[in-house]
Amino acid sequence: MDQSEFQQRVHAAQQRVERALLHALSGADTAAARLQEAMRYSVLGGGKRLRPLLVYITGEALGANPADLDAPAAAVELIHAYSLIHDDLPAMDDDDLRRGQPTCHRAFDEGTAILAGDALQALAFAVLASQTNALADATRVRMLTVLADAIGLAGMAGGQAIDLEAAGRGSDPAHIELMHRRKTGALIRASVELGALAAPARNEAAYTALRLYGSEIGLAFQIQDDILDVTGETEVLGKRVGADAAHGKPNYPSVFGLERTRQLALEHRDRALAALVALGEAAAPLRALAYYVVDRVQ
Ligand code: IPE
Ligand code: IPE
Ligand code: MG
Ligand code: MG
Ligand code: MG
Repeated sequence: MDQSEFQQRVHAAQQRVERALLHALSGADTAAARLQEAMRYSVLGGGKRLRPLLVYITGEALGANPADLDAPAAAVELIHAYSLIHDDLPAMDDDDLRRGQPTCHRAFDEGTAILAGDALQALAFAVLASQTNALADATRVRMLTVLADAIGLAGMAGGQAIDLEAAGRGSDPAHIELMHRRKTGALIRASVELGALAAPARNEAAYTALRLYGSEIGLAFQIQDDILDVTGETEVLGKRVGADAAHGKPNYPSVFGLERTRQLALEHRDRALAALVALGEAAAPLRALAYYVVDRVQ
């Protein structure tokens, strides 16, 4: 799959999830209008939509119906938006710029930002539970469990807790890898799993291979995020560079040095690619995405 084919695929997934997100956030709540506005502000204001893309390309590689992928694609992006709102709060990373706009607590206020995160998390589960498609109830329950496990104590929230504890203290290689696998890798892996769960026939070997793929690109993705925090540009990233160092937060470059960090990102990309071997040509978009994760500049 060449660059332009991959770009088309990315664009199609972005358009598709945009519709699903708009639908999930439609309706008007006149009593909590400000909260609703904050939710829309944080979800509909851009972003690469990488996690929904993973849901679509994984599902489609296994023969899933695209219509069965809209709910899980929207759900993972809603969770991601919630995680960014809370990550930017003064009590966490205290950032004022996100996707080229003021962060949610800056555009609104801290209380509203906390609630917008809470409500988006709840909405993600509601979207997944009430999806109107042909999936069996047992599949839906499995999807809910996969998502819940990915973002709780053993996943994102736990990873963010490790991140908070590491601030001002430094980190060692094993500890920072664990932190990254949990705070970012877990949701990315779950996005792959949700796509796979929507496929008609379950093939355990393929599922296991895809979990490994998701886990490795998830780690590579956060490593590249750390690299861009050091080498990127605020105007391109839409968030302030140097934020980790400014907050005394260890990242891959501060623990391993930039050169070794780049090597590690490629090693994890290659492990992700190796996991896909048995999946053949159908996995071409997943391969292209593995390259994109470590080559991206935003
Ligand atoms: C940023 O995620 C936060 C991390 C988990 C590294 P993205 O880089 O996917 O952010 P958007 O959605 O494109 O803004
Ligand atoms: C974010 O990691 C992880 C989650 C949002 C769960 P970062 O703190 O590095 O993300 P950015 O750099 O602010 O986007
Ligand atoms: Mg953070
Ligand atoms: Mg942050
Ligand atoms: Mg970062």
